[in-house]
Amino acid sequence: MEKPLLQVALDNFTLSEALESTRVLAPELDVVEIGTLLCLATGAESIQVMRTLYPENIIVADLKIVDAGGELAGMACDNGANWVTVMCNAADATKAKAVEAAAKRGGEMQVELFGNWTFEQAVEWKNIGLKQVIYHQSRDALNSGGSWGPANMETVKKLTDMDFEVSVTGGLTLDVISLFEGIPIKSFIVGRNLRNVADPAAEARAYKAEIATYWP
Ligand code: 5RP
Repeated sequence: MEKPLLQVALDNFTLSEALESTRVLAPELDVVEIGTLLCLATGAESIQVMRTLYPENIIVADLKIVDAGGELAGMACDNGANWVTVMCNAADATKAKAVEAAAKRGGEMQVELFGNWTFEQAVEWKNIGLKQVIYHQSRDALNSGGSWGPANMETVKKLTDMDFEVSVTGGLTLDVISLFEGIPIKSFIVGRNLRNVADPAAEARAYKAEIATYWP
C-alpha cells in the first residue's frame, strides 16, 4: 500500500497570506492546494504563482466545478494545476468535459463528495474516466457537532474497494489520521489545523510521522 500524501488546503482570501503558509509548509509536504476561497478571490494568478514557486509539489485547484467543466478545468491546468476538483452533483456532461480538458493538458479531475450521492452514481463517474474522489466532511456539519467515525471509514473503504483513489478532508486533526489505518488513502487534506498553528512546519512533520507510523 502506498504511503498517503500530505496536502495543505490554502483557504485564504489573499495570495500573500497563502504564501506565508507555503513558504514554511511546501518543503514539508507533497500537495499544495489553492483552496476554494483562494480560487474565488484570486483564481488563475494563485495557481500560476504556486506552480512557479513549487515545481516539486503537486498543485491542486479546488475549484469545486459545477458547470463549464471544460473551460474551468482547462483554465486551471493551463495555469499549472495538476489536479482540479469537480462536484459530485455536477452534470455528467460537465464532469466529462472537465476530464477531457484536464487529460488533454496532462491533468486529472477529482470528484468532490458533498451532499447526496450514491454508489450507483460513483460507477458512472468511473465510466466517465474519473479515478480520484475526495471524501469531504463539511465544515458546517463538523461545526454542528459531527465528527470522524466508523461510518466515514466504511464509506471511504467502499470507495477504495471500487478502485477509486480516495483523498479525505474536513477538519482533519492529527489524532484522526490513525482511524484510516489499513485503507489506501491517496492524500490527507488539512487546512486550518496545519496553517493556523504556532509552528506549521513542525505540525506538517508530525502529520508525516503519523502517516509513516500507520502506512510504513
Ligand atoms: C472546504 C474545503 C477545505 O479546503 C478542506 O475541507 C480543508 O479545510 P479544513 O482542514 O480547514 O477543514 O475544501 O470546502
